Amino acid sequence: MTSATPLGPVLGLETSCDETAAAVVERGRVLGQSVATQIPIHRRFGGVVPEVAARNHLMTVLPTIEAALAQACVAPQALGGIAVTARPGLIGALLVGVQTANALAWAWHKPVIGVDHTAAHVWSAMLRPPGLDADDWPRPRLPFAALAVSGGHTSLYRVNGPAELVLLGRTLDDAAGEAFDKFGKLIGLPYPAGPEVDRLAAQGRVGQVRLPRGMLGRSDGAYSFSGLKTAVRMHVASQYASGALPTGAERANLCADFQAAVVEQLLRVTLDSVRRHRLRDLVVAGGVAANCGLRAGFAEACARARVRFWPVAPAYCGDNGAMVACLGEALLRAGHRDDPFTLDAQATGEVRRAATVPAAGAP
Ligand code: KG4
Ligand code: ZN
Repeated sequence: MTSATPLGPVLGLETSCDETAAAVVERGRVLGQSVATQIPIHRRFGGVVPEVAARNHLMTVLPTIEAALAQACVAPQALGGIAVTARPGLIGALLVGVQTANALAWAWHKPVIGVDHTAAHVWSAMLRPPGLDADDWPRPRLPFAALAVSGGHTSLYRVNGPAELVLLGRTLDDAAGEAFDKFGKLIGLPYPAGPEVDRLAAQGRVGQVRLPRGMLGRSDGAYSFSGLKTAVRMHVASQYASGALPTGAERANLCADFQAAVVEQLLRVTLDSVRRHRLRDLVVAGGVAANCGLRAGFAEACARARVRFWPVAPAYCGDNGAMVACLGEALLRAGHRDDPFTLDAQATGEVRRAATVPAAGAP
């Protein structure tokens, strides 16, 4: 099957963490979408409670699918297939999406395809940006580099196609989003703290608190945020009496420096890898790709390095059904299928059909 093969719109389903999301996508255009977020439910626990997430997905999954189909004005019979996040994620949460997709695929006589959550984030760069009406729009050229930065992942890939993501480098410890969330919790911000740190950082000044930038002097494509996390914890402990938290300008300055430290490391390691692997296009995707400091920093550095920068539209950075449908559409068009009687959820695992290559210079 080639990209010219008629397929019909694809329904994408995402339930790997705390968003129940569905969307209908055709040739990269989002026809309809719906999201039931669980963030307010988990906020009081300071993070996602897996069992609570799974139970809420069960309640919201069918209404969310119905809402996406209704907005798209697409009847189930008109669908070309169903795509679902099958890995990685919270196992109970994933199971709800996968078993729903399997059941609907069987009942509606449609092909089903399970996709990797991180690969779907990466492929969201192919979606038509919201507000654009054109049938054709600029997209990154294959092969491209793609940095996936989310709550669970910080990985750089060489993307050769929808089914071939080659890992170039990843974090040795925390994901960038996880670091944002843990830092935010430390200074009393609610879960998930990334967007709030971003907002406060815009009011602060970089350089008032000098946090370490990390991974200086290495060239193996690895990222790490544990040193930064320890440094900021020690800074807060030394500056504030037990139980007290930074406020006002001090809090904004701390957010500004923390964000700058994360962005500087992401930038340096990523552009170093992009150069070594001789890639000309760089996609940045995932929840943290919505960060204003990251977008500005990467735009400037990529322009200087003559690398074409493709930040995913902010509306598609966080978990959503459109990215799943978009990757599913590309895989179905390329002839990939799963069996609805055997497609299963997988809590862990590297991106499907990915090969790992050691970065140049690695031992
Ligand atoms: O991709 P995503 O929605 O879910 C995962 O796959 O993990 O990413 C969520 C992560 C959270 O850690 C959240 O704090 C972070 O993305 N995030 C941000 C921003 N918006 C979301 N981090 C920094 N700045 C933002 N504007
Ligand atoms: Zn995600």
